[in-house]
Amino acid sequence: MKEIVVSGIRPTGHLHLGNYFGAMRNYVRMQEEYNCYFFVADWHSLTTHPDTSELRDSVLGVLAENIAAGLDPEKVALYAQSALPEIAELYLYLNMLAYKGELEKTTTFKDKVRQNPDNVNAGLLTYPVLMAADILIHRAAYVPVGKDQEQHLEMARNFAQRFNYRYTELFPEPQAFNFGSDLVKVPSLDGTGKMSKSENQLATLYLVDSDEMIRKKVMKAKTDAGPTEPNSTMPDYIQNLFMLMELVSDRGTVEKFRNDFNGASIRYGDLKKALAEDMVRFIAPIREKAAAIYADKDYLRRVLSNGAEKAHESARKTIEETRRLVGLRYF
Ligand code: TYM
Repeated sequence: MKEIVVSGIRPTGHLHLGNYFGAMRNYVRMQEEYNCYFFVADWHSLTTHPDTSELRDSVLGVLAENIAAGLDPEKVALYAQSALPEIAELYLYLNMLAYKGELEKTTTFKDKVRQNPDNVNAGLLTYPVLMAADILIHRAAYVPVGKDQEQHLEMARNFAQRFNYRYTELFPEPQAFNFGSDLVKVPSLDGTGKMSKSENQLATLYLVDSDEMIRKKVMKAKTDAGPTEPNSTMPDYIQNLFMLMELVSDRGTVEKFRNDFNGASIRYGDLKKALAEDMVRFIAPIREKAAAIYADKDYLRRVLSNGAEKAHESARKTIEETRRLVGLRYF
């Protein structure tokens, strides 16, 4: 039996390089060896985006971008979270096992409160519980995610453990997953934290960015006058540029610029030009495929409907078992 994998992406805008290297790259590899459930987390997006007028287009966009990045809807179940009401039911049971104090301490919750103090809703507070339900509904072993989701995974394991202890063993404890190494954090181009959909747009490389836009963003990335002595300590924002280069450039290019840095002869303008061209080479084919797929709405609707059917089967089994264990079967 293949092991089960679950992961989701919120439809809150176009996908970026962080989403690709933190999550989608792993999805594409995992679809060959695992039983995969990948979904668009539309319910989760309502916690911060209550206006749903653009939701439908965003869901189809995220789907098209995932398929363009290499996901094969024949190999995996690709669906919208809201197609599985079983997730909402499991969320309800898990909410009774989640404590207000631990939810309030979650890093992402605290960030969101800071960013948007006028909309601190209960859905935002219980975001990690819904995420646990997404994962546990298929009894997943692995969850490919970026580093920013690590704490949510730890919480999902806690909720699973509490359920198993209270009502009998049902859920495996899901592990965050990245092929062969630590979870990834793709840095933003301005040297302040991670690349993200909502923060500084010019410091985020989207998979739909035009070649011109990619060049413009990379050339604006933060640098300085360069090291004055050989083997100087590398500042964070320069390390970040090297990290991006390692993702899209060949080893020789990275080595050349590393040697230049260590020899205090590096020219950051040249480094950024090389990075920009390799980035264009990486992003352009995904952008073009995504546009073609996005244009075929009938196809995308079919993918969502088939995916929902596959995912539903597994969700129904788990929820029936959950109800039985909780003691809610009366006839
Ligand atoms: P979301 O939509 O913010 O991001 C989707 C995926 O992209 C990863 N990611 C990054 N990885 C590395 N560097 C970055 N700069 C970067 N930015 C984003 C995220 O870690 C994630 O894997 N809560 C989730 C969605 C979700 C989910 C789930 C994930 C809902 N239910 C169940 C897994 C399992 C989120 O907001 O991801």
